Amino acid sequence: MPDIILGIESSCDDTSAAVISDRYLLSNVIASQEVHRAFGGVVPELASRAHELNIVPVVSEALSRAGVKPSELTAIAFTRGPGLLGSLLVGTSFAKALSISLDVPIVMVNHLQGHVLANFVRQADKPVCEPSFPYLCLLVSGGNSQIVKVSSPLEFEILGQTIDDAVGEAFDKCSKMMGLGYPGGPVIDRLAAQGDPERFHFAKPHIPGLDYSFSGVKTSLLYFVRDELARDPEFMEKNKADICASFQKCLIDILMDKLIKASAQTGIREITIGGGVSANSGLRRRITEEGGRRGWKTYLPEFKFTTDNAAMIAIAGYFHYLNGERAPLDVAPVSRIADF
Ligand code: KG4
Repeated sequence: MPDIILGIESSCDDTSAAVISDRYLLSNVIASQEVHRAFGGVVPELASRAHELNIVPVVSEALSRAGVKPSELTAIAFTRGPGLLGSLLVGTSFAKALSISLDVPIVMVNHLQGHVLANFVRQADKPVCEPSFPYLCLLVSGGNSQIVKVSSPLEFEILGQTIDDAVGEAFDKCSKMMGLGYPGGPVIDRLAAQGDPERFHFAKPHIPGLDYSFSGVKTSLLYFVRDELARDPEFMEKNKADICASFQKCLIDILMDKLIKASAQTGIREITIGGGVSANSGLRRRITEEGGRRGWKTYLPEFKFTTDNAAMIAIAGYFHYLNGERAPLDVAPVSRIADF
């Protein structure tokens, strides 16, 4: 009998449920919350209310698309944290309630483990393409910028991480500052494709070791745009594509510099990326090119597994389930988790 796991993800502004049978994906449903767009960022209170509205239909849709009856579930994996507490509470409470009603165990998952294990979600109609252990994962999202060494599905070590903003935050805040909209990453990515990445230069940080910093480059862009607009009020409109291309290149240079160092220091050449920013086309191209030059084996998850989704929670939960882990029913969500 296969183990059938229902995954539930509600850490930020996506309500998602997925069903896997052993490692194979049967369904992955994501309800994104449009309500935040007008505010230029996620409004925590609105996010938890939207999760409350979405969770029942999203879970039923995932079960129905998978062709799985609730009584057939082996376990329920849910995101315990990190994330927005109100949002996490909805998924956690729902998982507990379903577990009691079906008499199946719950397994708690660290959201970040989900991102770094996303490559292990298998799809019946696609070839299996999974990194060997140990591998390095560049985890880049709205809340994280980390290089993680993954030695097994249950063993993680953070080699470097941001000391201030996450790279996704830099994309989002700078997009807002330039009046380009939210979320900023996809907008900047699209505009960058039409621009010259060598036209403008922004200050890069000098942080020791494998840690990152993105607050300085954000400030550098802010002053640059302010000064240029003072000279020519049309500057932004006339140069948007080049500014985006140059800014994106600067962020990618920063990310790649430490990833290359991490690979050289550890001797690990199996490289994956995860998190929302790993959808960035410039970053994907650079990792593939650098990888080709340096003899890396690179694994780029499909777009649907890069942003928040329950398939990655289900697969991470599956490994914990196999390891005999079960969460108690009084488990509480946590907004911050210091490590993996
Ligand atoms: O992993 P994610 O969906 O949510 C969390 O942060 O937990 O990541 C969202 C982040 C946002 O900052 C968004 O701007 C960024 O991922 N993002 C991108 C792209 N698509 C999404 N950043 C750069 N290029 C993209 N194509």
